[in-house]
Order: sequence, then structure tokens, then C-alpha cells
Amino acid sequence: MSHDMSENLPEAHDASHGTDVATHGDPFADPGLPAHEPRRTDIDERAAQRAERQVSLMFVVSMLATVGFIASYASIDADKIVYIFPLGHVSALNFALGMTLGVALFCIGAGAVHWARTLMSDHELPAERHPIEADDDVRNDVIEQFKTGAAESGFGRRKLIRNTLFGSLALVPLSGVVLLRDLGPLPEKKLLHTGWVEAEPSKPLRLVNMNTDQPMKAEDIVQGSLTFAKPEGLEESDEDFQQQIAKDALMLVRIAPEDIKDAKSRDKGFEGILAYSKICTHVGCPISLYEQQTHHALCPCHQSTFDLADGARVIFGPAGHPLPQLKITTDEQGFLVATGDFDEPVGPSYWERPR
Ligand code: FES
Repeated sequence: MSHDMSENLPEAHDASHGTDVATHGDPFADPGLPAHEPRRTDIDERAAQRAERQVSLMFVVSMLATVGFIASYASIDADKIVYIFPLGHVSALNFALGMTLGVALFCIGAGAVHWARTLMSDHELPAERHPIEADDDVRNDVIEQFKTGAAESGFGRRKLIRNTLFGSLALVPLSGVVLLRDLGPLPEKKLLHTGWVEAEPSKPLRLVNMNTDQPMKAEDIVQGSLTFAKPEGLEESDEDFQQQIAKDALMLVRIAPEDIKDAKSRDKGFEGILAYSKICTHVGCPISLYEQQTHHALCPCHQSTFDLADGARVIFGPAGHPLPQLKITTDEQGFLVATGDFDEPVGPSYWERPR
């Protein structure tokens, strides 16, 4: 049965558009756009110039804030603490960097918004629905509209705005560039060697248990356990202990020699005792979990998993290369010793890493 919806509609009156829907018979009729009202800056050239100066002022303030950021970074002591209400005691450097960078970015955004609201064209254009793929006519039309928009925005004509915008956008990235200084000096050859470099075949270095602080004999390392070791002579009281242990730390496992798949790895060990770097090759977390059945060591940070029975090959996770292995043997008294450094740098990859 044919049914005209408008018959059931009350004689509604759309107050917002002043349209009597019952009269027109189409409740969804396009009310069209309200008449365009020119802004003050559209009809008053002095108002437009004032708006132009305001926009430029914001871009200039952005530039000054960026200069302030760099000056703060260069001149304020990183340890300086100041009292700022209502924040309380804060780092003067952090406060200055945050404020200046915030002002620099805010002024660029605020300037762009003010420019769009006061000087760019504010004619509303209905966007008709159309197939997603545009035909050539539409594309040409878009290009034409873009050119018109660019012309109406005054981007080419209002050189003061354009130039100050370019200036502020060019300066803002400098804030990020100066922060690169915090990366510190290049490591050069410091990462190539660990504390084990002092070990020589004629002057071996004993492996000391990190928990008991005692040198270890081969019989102290039992199958299924994970033991952590440091080089003889490295003491917690040493000034550079943290720096050194981050490179020197070892983990020792004992695996039945017939279960060791990698012959090279077996040769570097002693009777199935293998000494690997404890420092994960992803981003350097200390590895601390060992699964004795599979001989897998797991890094708790991002779950990189290394097969210690197969040259500490990476079998899962983001680590880029196997854990370096330290060649060990025993001295005349039966203590486990190293006779040289690792063959490769320990820890994560870095630019100058040989391989
Ligand atoms: S640091 Fe070990 S997996 Fe990321």
C-alpha cells in the first residue's frame, strides 16, 4: 500500500530554518547555507592590516621563544632548582625549556588560526557527495580551487605573514637539534673492550661470583643453574663499578657437552661451562631468566630469547645478534679464568660496531 509519510506528520514548523516541512512535503530538504556575512576584515582594510600585524606578531614571538629555548639550554645549569608558584620546587632548566618550546609552538598555532579566522576566505562551500575516485574534471576543479584558496589566503600577497611564518617554522626544529648535544660524545673505542681486556694467556683473570664475591671453581657451576660473574679485581666500592659491570657482567651455565649444538661455542667453554655476556643485545637490559630444560635465556625487558646451547643464537624477540661469549678455562688451582676479552663488543648495536 502506498503510504505518504508527510500525511502523518504534524504540521511541524522548523524554527531553526524557518521552513514549514508540511508545506514542502520533504522533511529532509536541504535548508541551504545561511547568507554569507562579511567580517570586519573583509570590508575594512585597516582592520585587515591590524589582523596581519597580530598574526605576524605571534610568529615573531614564536621565533623569540625558540631563541629563548636555545639560550636557556646553553646557559641554565641543569642542577639549578627554583621555586615557582604553584608548581613548587622545579628544575629551572626543565621549566625554561618547557615554557619556551610551549610558547613557540603555541604562537605558530595561534597565529595560523587567527590568520584563517580573520584574513583567509570564510565563504562556506557545500561539498557534494561523489564517487571516491575523482574524474579529470573534478581533479582540475580541485587544483583550481586550491589555487584560488592560495590566492585568497593572501599567502603570496601578504609577505609579512608569509616571511614570519617561514621564519618561525624554520627556527622551531632548532630546539630539537640542540638537544642532540645530550647524546654526549661518540663512544669511539670505549665500547670495543670490557674489563676482561686485562686478561691474557700469561696473566689470566679469575671469574668471581657476583653474589658471594668469591672466585669460582668448575665444580661450583652445576647443571640447570645460572650463575653471574664479574672479573677479579672489580669491586662494588670502585668509583666506576656501575659503568664497568654494565659491560663485564657474565652469566655462566653448565650444559652437557653433547647437548651443545655449536662446536665453536663448546670450544670456548670448559667442560660444558659456557660464559656469555649478561647484557642483552637489544637495548642492554641484564638477562636474568634461564629455562634449564631448553637452555633458553630470556631478557625480561622485551622478551628476547637466546639459545645458550646454540651459541646464544636469538630465537625470539627484538635482539639483533647473539650474546657474545667469553672464552674460559681453569688455572693451576682449578679456578675458572678468562684469558682474553670478548671477540666482539657486548650489548646493543651502535653505529660504529664492527659487525
Ligand atoms: S633489552 Fe632485552 S629484549 Fe630488549
